[in-house]
Amino acid sequence: MINKTAVLLGLQWGDEGKGKIVDVLTPQYDIIARFQGGPNAGHTLIFDGKKHVLHTIPSGIFHGNVINVIGNGVVIDPIIFQKEIEKLQENGVPFQERLLISKKAHLILPTHRILDAASEAAKGAAKIGSTLKGIGPTYMDKTGRNGLRVGDILEDDFVLKYNELKEKHLKILSQYNFEYELTEMENQWMKSIAFLKAMTIIDSEHYVNNALNQGKKVLAEGAQGSLLDIDFGSYPFVTSSNTVTAGACTGLGIAPNKIGDVFGIFKAYCTRVGSGPFPTELHDEVGERMRKEGHEFGSTTGRPRRCGWLDIPALKYACMINGVTELFMMKADVLSIFDEIKICTHYRWKNEVIDYLPYNATENLEPVYTSVKGWSTDLTQISHQDQFPVELKDYIAFISDAVGIPITIVSVGPDRTQTISMR
Ligand code: GDP
Ligand code: IMO
Ligand code: MG
Repeated sequence: MINKTAVLLGLQWGDEGKGKIVDVLTPQYDIIARFQGGPNAGHTLIFDGKKHVLHTIPSGIFHGNVINVIGNGVVIDPIIFQKEIEKLQENGVPFQERLLISKKAHLILPTHRILDAASEAAKGAAKIGSTLKGIGPTYMDKTGRNGLRVGDILEDDFVLKYNELKEKHLKILSQYNFEYELTEMENQWMKSIAFLKAMTIIDSEHYVNNALNQGKKVLAEGAQGSLLDIDFGSYPFVTSSNTVTAGACTGLGIAPNKIGDVFGIFKAYCTRVGSGPFPTELHDEVGERMRKEGHEFGSTTGRPRRCGWLDIPALKYACMINGVTELFMMKADVLSIFDEIKICTHYRWKNEVIDYLPYNATENLEPVYTSVKGWSTDLTQISHQDQFPVELKDYIAFISDAVGIPITIVSVGPDRTQTISMR
């Protein structure tokens, strides 16, 4: 029998709680491997009364005897990476023996960040709402075959290559009417490159496949969410990588026949940060209460997240694209404040009732809701599913029936311990 990788990824627009659950599941694995995205991600972990936010480093880093791999599909900003490592150092986390970085991961240059900002500024009201971490321009250079990779920093001609790419960027920037400061960021970046050099840099595709062949258990950690996927998200309001299960194959070098469980994470409602369509978005006091109760402010940028009811057609779509085998429902506790909870089951669009997201459906897409009774009970102290109020059990059953996939974990608070198994 083939030893397969498990994949854990977000099914909505990101921030579903991936970091928390990866941390919870890590003791069951030998390797946690990030496969795409970069410091646009902000994965929050809370345990022992302390909060940690990771951007580039996989969420298994706080556990001993587990190796964390930053895969080839990830893009790394050395400055942000160094800051993350320094935080781990402050917390006494032995990162050196736990962290491996792919030679093939691409580097985010200071000029990629500036290009991201210049591009967003030029778009004006049509901006993507990017995290301004340089993600889009870095992946553009990757597919445009101009990029710099982590392995390049070990070569003698690295500075030469860096300068060549920088010059290309400066030419592009001269076409924008955009002011920027580069020197200081560049100095800092070069220092961080030296820091990165001291890490263990490997051919991670060989490492992961050898580990699988030896029977080791691997969990691939996604970033962002399926509705932000470059191919299947609400284009152009998406990120620049494949956030779906297939991204774990290309982002780690794992063959499709070596993908096993696919854990799909979703919030009991929906949030989105940045621009783009969001059919169930609430522009009223209900949305405001959701944001407040769920502390829906970005982990990376601090921006308020847009909030709305759960969207079943969008969830089904994400499950189809990803081949989800188990669903994890997060932040159930946040909905405790509502007497009535709505679930979008269909959309009304051009006088038709549909259950899929149509191409370019930015306007005139009206959610069709089913209302259910809320549980109006504090869930945060619950330790077993038997203690769940009946209305919550009904909510869980409604969703897993509608999607056709079991919900095997329900999260009732941000702490590691507030995680209920439904098995
Ligand atoms: P990620 O990007 O998917 O890892 O998610 P983020 O960390 O960006 O956002 C999730 C936020 O929700 C964080 O602030 C978590 O601490 C918090 N969180 C995770 N699970 C729960 C939960 O079940 N209940 C509540 N109230 N908060 C949660
Ligand atoms: P995690 O891993 C939520 C959003 C941005 C913007 C769009 C493009 O924490 O779930 P980018 O910087 O990637 O070019 O921005 O994608 N975005 C996220 N939203 N969670 C994330 O990551 C995100 N990463 C990017 O807000 O709308
Ligand atoms: Mg996040």
